[in-house]
Amino acid sequence: MSEVRERDFDKEALTWDDNPIAVERSRAVAQAIIREASPNKNMDALDFGAGTGLVTLALQPFVKTITAADTSQGMLSVLDSKIAEQGFTNVRTMLLDLDTDEPPGTGFDLVVTSMVMHHMPDVPKVLRVFHQMLRPGGLVAIADLDTEDGTFHPDNTGIHHLGFDRKVMQRMLETSGFCEMKITTAHVMNKEVEGKPREYPIFLAVAHLK
Ligand SMILES: C[S@@+](CC[C@H](N)C(=O)[O-])C[C@H]1O[C@@H](n2cnc3c(N)ncnc32)[C@H](O)[C@@H]1O
Repeated sequence: MSEVRERDFDKEALTWDDNPIAVERSRAVAQAIIREASPNKNMDALDFGAGTGLVTLALQPFVKTITAADTSQGMLSVLDSKIAEQGFTNVRTMLLDLDTDEPPGTGFDLVVTSMVMHHMPDVPKVLRVFHQMLRPGGLVAIADLDTEDGTFHPDNTGIHHLGFDRKVMQRMLETSGFCEMKITTAHVMNKEVEGKPREYPIFLAVAHLK
């Protein structure tokens, strides 16, 4: 099997927050998570693949603590600067690759992830790890692209899935031990591709521990 090259997220981190489309998407995803997953001040949350923390920081006022995990030290360094500048005491960063690292324990009530699952080769494995990390009563909120035709990313380096069919995501969640699923549309991204306007819907799947 040919090796899939990875994207240089450390480099992208430097300008990530300058992209209004990414900022708008993160705001919409965070609002959808607040609406559909009802985070509260008793919850310890994990934002998996948090990047520069756009979703993390939008959620932090609604939870007790939030851990921003990512494989990219560049992304986490941008977030560390924001945490220091704004003096957040309930946000921490964690260098983590669930493809290779051990899961970081079982201390979370809510796991959220935005636009990360299409980068993960083995999605059921990641969902099982989310399941292991959650306390009883915990839930996941997964935002990602609906199935797309390969035009969303200008370069499909490091892309393992061209979005997801919602029914397939639902089945993967069920077989990974989740129930009470609800999948809604969190946002529709508008992008110009080869000179033409295109729409890319993003779903939010919320599911509870069985
Ligand atoms: C498209 S960005 C999304 C960032 C952020 N969630 C947002 O919505 O702005 C994907 C992020 O997933 C991270 N990532 C990719 N593979 C990962 C892995 N195996 N474990 C943890 N993070 C990963 C990347 O470093 C990057 O920050």
